Amino acid sequence: NHNRITVLGSFVADLAFRVDRLPARGETILGPSFVLGPGGKGSNQAVAAARSGGHVSFITKLGRDPFGDIARKLYADEGIDTGHVYEATVPTGAAAILIDAASGDNAIIVVPGACFTITTDEVDAARELIAGSSVLMAQLELPLEIVEHGLALARSLGVATILNPAPAAALPEHLYQLADYITPNESEAEALTGVAVVTLADAERAADVFLARGVKNAIITLGAQGAFVKNATMSAHVVALDAGAVVETTGAGDAFNGGLAVALTEGLPLEAAVRFGCATAAISVTRPGTAPSMPHRAEIDCLLASHAGTTTQ
Ligand code: RIB
Ligand code: NA
Repeated sequence: NHNRITVLGSFVADLAFRVDRLPARGETILGPSFVLGPGGKGSNQAVAAARSGGHVSFITKLGRDPFGDIARKLYADEGIDTGHVYEATVPTGAAAILIDAASGDNAIIVVPGACFTITTDEVDAARELIAGSSVLMAQLELPLEIVEHGLALARSLGVATILNPAPAAALPEHLYQLADYITPNESEAEALTGVAVVTLADAERAADVFLARGVKNAIITLGAQGAFVKNATMSAHVVALDAGAVVETTGAGDAFNGGLAVALTEGLPLEAAVRFGCATAAISVTRPGTAPSMPHRAEIDCLLASHAGTTTQ
């Protein structure tokens, strides 16, 4: 299937604690609510892509434990191909997510666990799958050598690559050349380029650094400001869409990447594909949770239709 999107990435269980304020060092506080659900950037992006209309395969590794079972059930429910979801001997990882109910600020600890034990041989075993995909998408919650191996394999097979450099980590220079698309948010762009991204001009400066390093298309997501996209022949600011009151922004970047991958796979021009990603993210932030908050295609189309006319600046 040449419309296939293959995601190489993490699954962890998200343990989301809502708090009235983030606790101080050494302090114990009581919080109003707790939710356990599926998370991990790779898995969230796979779900976002599947719900927004993609044929999705996910490559990861899970423990034989209840957290792993949350993932197995999720992929069955969402129609995500698990032919290369491997079993680990170590437990599935988890993320402790603290959400300040008043400000929306969060603080997160991710212990990747089982997914982090995936090997380059297991990535190679997915060679035929990747060869039959139109895009391979990866993040930075797996070991860097695995990410690099996956991107290099996709590149060698002529498959487009999306690197979502999250969470930010120092990257070797040659990794950038393996990325057809890079999709950092403001803080990740700053960590990777040294350019503090506040204004659109800053975003363009950061994009220029990525392009100079060999990335083909640089897309800087800007939260409430939408996204800035630049390549050798065009640049654009895509404004954010408004889908209602913001409930939880955790996972918004994952929504964006999943939507972007689908739109690119469907052949949308870059600017329209970024807009589709922004619409996917806009809906996700109006709902609690990460993977569970990902919108379905009809909702995205509806939001885009309601914003027709307000495109880019
Ligand atoms: O991008 C959001 C994700 O990052 C959460 O689901 C959490 O698991 C962390 O990995
Ligand atoms: Na959400």
